[in-house]
Amino acid sequence: MRLARALDAATREALVERMRFYRELGLTEFYRRPVEMSGDEARAEREFDERVAAAANEPVMAAGEGAIAAPPPSVVQSNFFGEEAAIRSKKGIVAQPEISAAVPAEERAAALKAIREDLGDCTRCALHKGRHTIVFADGSATARLMFVGEGPGADEDAQGLPFVGRAGQLLNNMIAAMGLKREECYIANIVKCRPPGNRTPEPVEANTCSPFLFRQIDVVRPQVLVALGATAATYLLGARQPLAGLRGRVHAFRGMSLIVTYHPAFLLRDPRQKKEAWADLQIAMKELGLKKAGTRE
Ligand code: URA
Repeated sequence: MRLARALDAATREALVERMRFYRELGLTEFYRRPVEMSGDEARAEREFDERVAAAANEPVMAAGEGAIAAPPPSVVQSNFFGEEAAIRSKKGIVAQPEISAAVPAEERAAALKAIREDLGDCTRCALHKGRHTIVFADGSATARLMFVGEGPGADEDAQGLPFVGRAGQLLNNMIAAMGLKREECYIANIVKCRPPGNRTPEPVEANTCSPFLFRQIDVVRPQVLVALGATAATYLLGARQPLAGLRGRVHAFRGMSLIVTYHPAFLLRDPRQKKEAWADLQIAMKELGLKKAGTRE
């Protein structure tokens, strides 16, 4: 009680959110002690933080049209309760559709617009009832690198763009740490409408929405696709597997390389996993032929 009174409202809210997160993971007993990291973990986290901090000082978006508004500092996404726990239902995952014919680079923007028009003011699943805005995608129609997340949160629902909240800020910094700009990438989600309370999308919702995502993927045809978190990995790869077994390697996917890593919202909650996420992004960089900053590798 004394602790609760000493905390300001935002900190208390963040703490409650974190406790909820742990409870969802099945952790119910807590005691206080400083977090201990191995020397390697601490070094890796420092390296990652330095890189994202250095990258964050560079302008990721040009000012003006298309620029991503800075997220409100107090907003914490409250889904993604745990990477392994993301898929609760045992119901089916629809098989991937066949790969569509390649679209010439100069026609990709128009092809994406046509998909958006097909989607219309979608009411195909129950998620439409609670949304403000359909969050179609953001970025370049000819991107070499694509990211797929789970679904819009409150900020995304309000702005109509994916990854513009706190998790989006971390994603922007991760992209910058790879030596790229956000607008050079293509960013989308498994579902295009915000699930109520930021819950994980139900299989029927993901399966109803994902055919549009597969069409977007086939149009953009990036060289590398990064699945952010267990929900993205599950519905892209069409199989429910623990994230630990999917990370750290390249999956052949629709003629491109797919890499699975932790969701940025999960990294905000458990920064010690940044080391692993950075290792995954380095695999993506290698696939793209990008060099690690300051090295000849
Ligand atoms: N989390 C997601 O998975 N997608 C978003 O667009 C934002 C947060």
